Amino acid sequence: MKKVFLSEDEMPRQWYNILADIKLNPPLGPNGKPIGPEDLAPVFPMNLIEQEVSTDRWIDIPEAVLDVYRIWRPSPLVRAVSMEKALKTPARIYFKNESVSPPGSHKPNTAVPQVYYNKVFGIKKMTTETGAGQWGSALSFACSQFGMECKVFMVRVSFDQKPYRKAMMEAWGGQCVASPSMETKAGRDALERDPETPGSLGIAISEAVEAAVSDTTGQTRYSLGSVLNHVMLHQTVIGLEARKQMEKIGEYPDVIIGCAGGGSNFAGLAFPFVVDKINGKQIDIYPVEPAACPTLTRAPFVYDHGDTARYTPLLAMHSLGHAFVPPPFHAGGLRYHGMAPTVSQLAVEGIITPRSVQQIEAYDAGIAFARTEGIIPAPETTHALACVVEEALKAREEGKEKVILFCWSGHGLLDFGAYEKYFTGKLQNFELSDDEICNSSKMFKDFPKPAILKSH
Ligand SMILES: Cc1ncc(COP(=O)(O)O)c(C=O)c1O
Repeated sequence: MKKVFLSEDEMPRQWYNILADIKLNPPLGPNGKPIGPEDLAPVFPMNLIEQEVSTDRWIDIPEAVLDVYRIWRPSPLVRAVSMEKALKTPARIYFKNESVSPPGSHKPNTAVPQVYYNKVFGIKKMTTETGAGQWGSALSFACSQFGMECKVFMVRVSFDQKPYRKAMMEAWGGQCVASPSMETKAGRDALERDPETPGSLGIAISEAVEAAVSDTTGQTRYSLGSVLNHVMLHQTVIGLEARKQMEKIGEYPDVIIGCAGGGSNFAGLAFPFVVDKINGKQIDIYPVEPAACPTLTRAPFVYDHGDTARYTPLLAMHSLGHAFVPPPFHAGGLRYHGMAPTVSQLAVEGIITPRSVQQIEAYDAGIAFARTEGIIPAPETTHALACVVEEALKAREEGKEKVILFCWSGHGLLDFGAYEKYFTGKLQNFELSDDEICNSSKMFKDFPKPAILKSH
């Protein structure tokens, strides 16, 4: 058996909301007091804000969203048999192939509902940032499905590394500019600070938020591709499908792995299983991040802004500091200074165990996979793969028949600039010094401190 499919009728009809099962520190406003839903209203439509704060365990997926999901969902669960053989491991390795969506990643799982809820609320135009270009493509695709306009601020370094992402967004009618741009105050300020800046997700988020709230018609809203609770919620369709697929073949994961930028593909796969772990099941759950942007593994758990210009509320999360500009390594979607509050909270409670890998090790694993399983991973996905390889080799050493489940978050078919560097030996590893991490912590030293909550 190579692949496990679900029929369209077996697709989940509800998302799983982890806020029913864990406690979170509330987001804070500029005065240090918890914000209310109305504070977010200039940025997001109220129906999504309600989802953001909901503690209902199950939330219905609207029929119009299911209709678009059916273009590529349910996604296949695939057993990496050739890779298992190559690694001579007794482990059984399964992956959820999220690269089968039109833009090539898990990102449309949330882009589609976000655009749908904005449309229902009467919004006409969406703005957003993109790192790797996968999220901007996903939002452009979703906007085209619902007849909405889309404007994307793409982090400069990725914009230069992969020009075809812009063309892809344009194919769906979206507009894409490099960030920092001269179109917003946040962009102009960033360029004044450093005209040569490679950009960062933090700066691009500031630009997209500013572009949304400064539209005087009130018909533009901002959309975030990761980090927020409602994004994690929408992505749980991945893990809910995976659960059903594994049940069909009588399997259950001992190890769950996902790469983590803002946390959404990891959360999407892991959260529907995290609840079992909370209830006593033994599962090792690993979010994997780049050593060059080690948010969960090395940065403190603090209150910090989600963007560089400090437009967003303070979120309780692991953060390298809102103005941190990561080195220009080749996994644009993992170059974010913060981490989803839900994922951060699970790390604080020790329910999940963060890991980090260097990019060359990640590409080694990505190429090993391409040469066995055939498909070429996105640079972000290679980080999960490096951890999969490590776990499979550990299972071999221990002689254990472990079941490893991971998220194949996207394909790398528009990422060959990075692969070319890898093949010509020009790819380098980056390691942040303790001093760099410590200096960057100064950005939030005057902010309130989050409480260390225990959910269980
Ligand atoms: C293919 C792919 N995987 C992973 C990520 C990381 O994002 P997240 O942690 O929100 O899943 C991205 C972000 O752009 C991506 O494009």
